Amino acid sequence: MSNLLIVDDEQSYRQLLSLIFEGEGYSIRTASNGTEAVELLSAEPADLVISDVRMPDMDGIEMLRAVREALPDMGVIFMTAHASVEAAREAFKLGADDFVTKPFDVDELKLIVKKTIEKQALIDENRAFKRAQRERGSVKNIVGNSAKMHAIFQMIETVAEVQSTVLITGESGTGKELVARAIHDMSPRAEKPFISINCGAFTETLLESELFGYVKGSFTGANSNRKGLFEAANKGTIFLDEIGEMSPAMQVKLLRVLQERRVRPVGAHEELPVDARVIAATNRDLKQMSLEGNFREDLFYRISVIPIHLPPLRERSEDIPDLVQHFVGKFCDHAGRSMGVSPKAMDLLENYMWGGNVRELEHTIERAVALERTDEIQPERLPEHITNYNPDRIKAEFELPADGLNLSAHLENLEKTYVIEALKMTAGNQTKAADLLQMQVRSLRHLLDKHSIRTLSAQMRSGD
Ligand SMILES: Nc1ncnc2c1ncn2[C@@H]1O[C@H](COP(=O)(O)OP(=O)(O)OP(=O)(O)O)[C@@H](O)[C@H]1O
Ligand SMILES: [Mg+2]
Repeated sequence: MSNLLIVDDEQSYRQLLSLIFEGEGYSIRTASNGTEAVELLSAEPADLVISDVRMPDMDGIEMLRAVREALPDMGVIFMTAHASVEAAREAFKLGADDFVTKPFDVDELKLIVKKTIEKQALIDENRAFKRAQRERGSVKNIVGNSAKMHAIFQMIETVAEVQSTVLITGESGTGKELVARAIHDMSPRAEKPFISINCGAFTETLLESELFGYVKGSFTGANSNRKGLFEAANKGTIFLDEIGEMSPAMQVKLLRVLQERRVRPVGAHEELPVDARVIAATNRDLKQMSLEGNFREDLFYRISVIPIHLPPLRERSEDIPDLVQHFVGKFCDHAGRSMGVSPKAMDLLENYMWGGNVRELEHTIERAVALERTDEIQPERLPEHITNYNPDRIKAEFELPADGLNLSAHLENLEKTYVIEALKMTAGNQTKAADLLQMQVRSLRHLLDKHSIRTLSAQMRSGD
């Protein structure tokens, strides 16, 4: 249960806030001025302080200044009836999370509190994770013994020491986020936050206010100031995932931030200095995108100061046995069991073409561990497309007949065969078939039309 400290010189506010947040399941303490708050906090820290600014004796800002050093991560929300710009600026400088004006909207305040606590939990989790890693004597948690992975480990260690922007590229599921975290964890910023944001998951305006924050009144619904993630990652690292999805307008704004090291919250007149290390990732070819005019070339050069490319799993299959053991261990630990892998099953795993890379392998092992009743994973616990996978059959396709062949016709034919195979394996379920072929349903439907097999798919589905 998160514990809140409410600081206000007016008893009515203390009571009201206690009532609201007790109802939300928080444990509550109250103080009627800054001095009392400092005493309570030194006796027992709080996860979050909601404090008035103006109070007799010691005011809210002084109170925060007095405890900040000892409690660097405590959430702080200020509430005030007379917001002075000075006070707000000072509060944010001391790392306050939000600034709310009285009278406040109850639902809005609840939401702000909830978000601040969630952010806290994220930071805590991160710290616990790091501690656990240190205790295990490894900082990386990245498995791999191939020469390619050794080169990556070396790279991680080197770039952890410097401040430059890093661009991590690689197919989906190759471990880009894991590498980003490892760089942060091994860097001098390790004790500060690692904040990860998926740039592809937001609309342009949302992404801007999410990254840079906003000031009260800058748009409908902006009822209070809000810190952006760049600020939240101050002294730490911000991980911009799927940066290739960023709109052109946002690309310009990001470029400015990287150049100036300052952010301007939406609606603000002034910029704030930020010191967050930027790590970006993408599974797209940004160089190519920039040649085609879909990604700013200047931004591309700015973020790819140090590029790290994660090779797909199929190019480092010697890592597979270690990864399998690692994941078996992980999921057995979760379930309090222990288990091996039968040689036959390991063989299948090593020979499969992992289109979804390490993530797909991880899910496969999770499923196998859950299904296995013996103390050794059997081939039958693996999905059919893995047990049926026959690399020889595919290799045979690559043998060029002595008298040559019509390549495009041959490829068309191959494509059609695979589509039909996928439909057979999924009883005509187009969504599942598209999954098997690792494509969008839309693209699969296009192929069905192209090869005139739409009716075939429908027949399979109806079980004819
Ligand atoms: N070398 C590795 N050792 C151990 N676990 C790994 C390794 N590589 C990836 N994983 C695991 O595989 C999963 C996918 O990795 P991650 O999320 O970092 O991939 P990603 O490249 O960011 O993928 P996407 O582009 O889809 O976001 C995670 O659960 C991660 O812990
Ligand atoms: Mg990722």
